[in-house]
Amino acid sequence: MTTAFPKRVRLVEVGPRDGLQNQARRLTTGQKIRLIEGLAQAGLDYLEAGSFVNPKWVPQMADSDQVLRGLHRQPGVTYAALTPNLKGFERALDAGATEVAVFAAASEAFSQKNINCSISESLTRFEPVMEAARAANLPVRGYISCVVGCPYSGDVAPAQVHSLAEQLLAMGCREVSLGDTIGVGTAGHVDRLLSQLTKTLAPNDLAVHMHDTYGQALTNIYVSLGWGISVVDSAIAGLGGCPYAPGAAGNVATEDVVYLLDGLGIEHGTNLEQLVALGEDICAQLGCQNQSRVGRALHSMENQP
Ligand code: HMG
Ligand code: MG
Repeated sequence: MTTAFPKRVRLVEVGPRDGLQNQARRLTTGQKIRLIEGLAQAGLDYLEAGSFVNPKWVPQMADSDQVLRGLHRQPGVTYAALTPNLKGFERALDAGATEVAVFAAASEAFSQKNINCSISESLTRFEPVMEAARAANLPVRGYISCVVGCPYSGDVAPAQVHSLAEQLLAMGCREVSLGDTIGVGTAGHVDRLLSQLTKTLAPNDLAVHMHDTYGQALTNIYVSLGWGISVVDSAIAGLGGCPYAPGAAGNVATEDVVYLLDGLGIEHGTNLEQLVALGEDICAQLGCQNQSRVGRALHSMENQP
């Protein structure tokens, strides 16, 4: 690990997609739109607004096209969506997504459960998506799930993640987000992973996407910042989980990452007070506990008599 922290971090807000895709209580399209608009008003300029997967697999995302069409958009904000195949890409383009993401896994077992094909088949499916995205002038983000461990097959070797990240970048992905989908990674794992990947890849090509199952997400982000990573995925109120990763907790909370960045003097461009209010509000709508420690602390201070 180097200690050259970036001066500024771009937060990729995945709450409206990763955060909501696994919730028992479904929000209305209007509630989703208000959440996304609120997040943009709080200063987040990259919002994952939906997912164009098979609605039979993930019914919570079935209205992503209405969400994207119904948004009042702010200039300079990216409204992104997951697109597993050409059909998903066409739906996303039609609905007005301004960036799309393809998602692969570093484990064969997870790839099969999540997207019903092998890792190499998934790369083949992404090729027409990359081509169509190039033709439409839309940037593509790449995800790799299970970069430390897989819920079905256990440990994942950094070399496996490395080769997949290289392939996604070579195919034209703008950056690759490294997902600790089940949140098992520790500082040691992330250090070993980034030490391997940065042998051939620039920190600017990479983002981190930490879930907080074992309470290690912030530590893992801190280690990643030390490797020069300057793009961090997070979800408001720590919402989230993957339907194909049983037991995995939510994403690291946006509020908690912002608090960490403030303490390190790293710019992020968002308003913590507004984020805390949004986090409380969305948890009330979903009937779930706010998973952001920072959100809970600041909210209870505000409500002291
Ligand atoms: P498949 O069954 O292999 O696809 O699914 P298929 O091409 O054989 O088609 C079967 C049916 O699906 C057909 O419909 C297609 O039209 C339909 P039918 O004829 O049976 O009525 N279909 C679609 N419908 C709408 N939109 C589409 C689409 N594609 C096919 N795009 C597929 C393959 C990938 C679609 C399926 O496995 C799927 O939808 N999986 C969902 C996976 C998912 O959303 N997982 C959660 C997101 S990933 C994640 O959370 C991890 C991440 O956050 C990073 C991390 O945390 O590490 C990104
Ligand atoms: Mg995720």
